[in-house]
Order: sequence, then structure tokens, then C-alpha cells
Amino acid sequence: MIGALFPLVRPVLHGLDAERAHDLTLAALAMMPARAPAPDDPRLAVDLLGQHFPNPVGLAAGFDKGARAADALLGLGFGFVEVGGVVPRAQGGNPRPRVFRLARDRAVINRFGLNSEGLDVVAGRLERRGRRGIVGVNVGANKETADRLADYVACTARLAPLADFITVNVSSPNTPGLRDLQGEAFLDDLLARVVAARDRAAPATAILLKIAPDITLDALDAICATAVRRGVAALVVCNTTVARPAALAETALSAEAGGLSGRPLFGPATRLLAEAYLRVGGHLPLVGVGGIDSAEAAWTKIRAGASLLQLYSALVYEGPGLVARIKAGLVARMRAEGATGLSAIVGRDAAALARTA
Ligand code: FNR
Repeated sequence: MIGALFPLVRPVLHGLDAERAHDLTLAALAMMPARAPAPDDPRLAVDLLGQHFPNPVGLAAGFDKGARAADALLGLGFGFVEVGGVVPRAQGGNPRPRVFRLARDRAVINRFGLNSEGLDVVAGRLERRGRRGIVGVNVGANKETADRLADYVACTARLAPLADFITVNVSSPNTPGLRDLQGEAFLDDLLARVVAARDRAAPATAILLKIAPDITLDALDAICATAVRRGVAALVVCNTTVARPAALAETALSAEAGGLSGRPLFGPATRLLAEAYLRVGGHLPLVGVGGIDSAEAAWTKIRAGASLLQLYSALVYEGPGLVARIKAGLVARMRAEGATGLSAIVGRDAAALARTA
């Protein structure tokens, strides 16, 4: 229903400043009565992280930073929703404008800077929503903080009892110094402390680690080894990129500072995903994110190594009907191959896609 209306609403939304359009969309969703999503084809189900995912198509972090509309978003057919990023103390983020549509590239650039209503407000909303459907929370550190690691620990301690997973975001490009936490020594310390906080607060809640696309393969080696050693449950590959592919059509907007997402991120993100699968595919599931805008793209991510998927930017261009189209396309591909589930497909072509995606 909402998917069918999107072609009519899109010109209105795209006539507005991108942040305003987003705020209106989220406000409308938050007002919708919660409704159960239509049941999914059983072949789409994924059992992972101690959860039964009805389908692998998740909403990526950043869309619902304040956990205002998690149930309505689940009602759109997502198999899971990641709310946040959340930081301990409310912060406004960077000055506006700070998000830009690169329509011809089917891309977005944002430099929100982890604007957040803060831990208490988001925790309050999660407490009130009850627990139907899989909801995770993306956590980060305040821009002005004396102790970054303590910020992640505070978020984990408070939110782990209220969520199905916590994603440790060390990959947002818009908070100075945040991505330095991907360095091996920092990361080891950070993950040890976050896992300990989780163990005290809610031992069943999975800890995920979200990485940036702009890392070397040596850094990926170290991140993968540290994540496995510290008991991370899955890697989320990946966040937005500070790189600007030469082929971008929207040349004026492409010079805007911030993280690029959407279609131009698909190739680099899928290569990194395949590289991660080749390193840890045996023992660490991967969440594939970056440029998924069709069933074809989703299928490629799974072949590259993703057990679960997330998307955000394509919703801006395709609307919520995309979720059902991706799920139907995945079922059609499984049927064509005689597969009874996605697990047999995961990582099947990782070696080839690490080179070519
Ligand atoms: C994001 N993303 C993001 N990631 C994160 O870990 N914490 C966050 O708070 C945000 N915020 C955010 C805001 C906006 C406006 C965008 C477009 C993106 C990154 C997002 O979760 C995802 O990793 C990337 O956008 C790549 O996926 P898509 O958009 O190409 O499907």
C-alpha cells in the first residue's frame, strides 16, 4: 500500500530539502498504527545471532536515529531494523544542509555528525515499544567527550537489555577521530570493554562491529582477527565512504564533504565484504550493506558473503516497495537454482567477487 503510493509522493518529497523530506517521512511512519508484516516465504528465513530472522533484508542505521518508528518500519516488511546511531549525551550534529541527494548517481552524501537525542530518550522509546520483531541499536561516541570508549560502554550497558543486537559504529566518517578506533590496539580495548558491559547487562544480546569501506586489506586482517578474538557476533560491512568515484555524474554535489552511500558504494562495499568473507567467513557471519537497490544487487551481496543485508539510500529513490521486490527476487532466484534456503548461496562467489564486484 505505502509502496504503491511512493511514485505519487516522491516528486513532492524530492522537491524538499533532503533532511526535511526525511523528517516528514519518519514522522508519518511514527504515526502509523503498528501492523504485523505479511508472512515471508520460509526460504527467506535466516537463523543467526540467536534470532529467527523472517527474511534477510534489514534497514540500515541512520534512517531512524531516535527509534521513533521501529515497529512501523518492521511493518514495511524488513526482516530487522537497526535504529541509531545513538550517543550518550544529546548532540545536534553538523550545521544544515548536511544531507544531499545525488539523484543521477542514485546516491546520497551525508555529514550529519551523529546527531542524536541521546541515550535516555532513545532508551525510553525502546522501553515503551514492547519486543516484537528484531531491532538492533547502532551506538557511537559523542563528538565532545573525555573518554570515547566509556561512551560506547555506557550505550551498551543501557541499550543491550532493550535490543536484539548492538552495533559498535567505529566507521562514521563525520565524527573526527571516530574511525581511528578501528586501529588494532584501540579496537581490542574497545571490544573487550563493550563485550564485558554486554555480559553484565544482557548476555544474550549480540555485539556487531560496523566497519568503514576506506580501509586497507592489512587493516581488515587486523579488524577481523580482533573481532573474532573478542567474541563479536558479526561484522557489518560497511558504512559510507569518504572516497568519490571518478564516475559520479552529480559533480557539483559530489564535492560536498561527508559519507557517500547508495549505488556508487556497491562495488567497493561488495569487494570489501568478499574480502572479509575470505578471512572470517567460516566463523563470523557478515551483514552486507552498501548500494543494495535491487534483488540482483542483494543476490550478489549474498554470493559475496552476506548472511544478512541492510539498505538505506535506495529507499530514497525506490520507496518502501523495494523491500518486497527484493524478497520476491531472492525467492525467484532460489527457486531457479533449486535452493531451499540462502545459507547455501552465502559466500559462494566470494573469491571471484573480491576481485571483480
Ligand atoms: C547513514 N549511515 C549510518 N551508519 C551508522 O553506522 N550510523 C549512523 O548513524 C548512520 N547514519 C546515516 C545517515 C544517513 C543519512 C545515511 C545515508 C547513512 C550509513 C548506513 O547505515 C549504511 O551503512 C550506508 O548508507 C550504506 O548503505 P546504503 O545507503 O548504500 O544502502
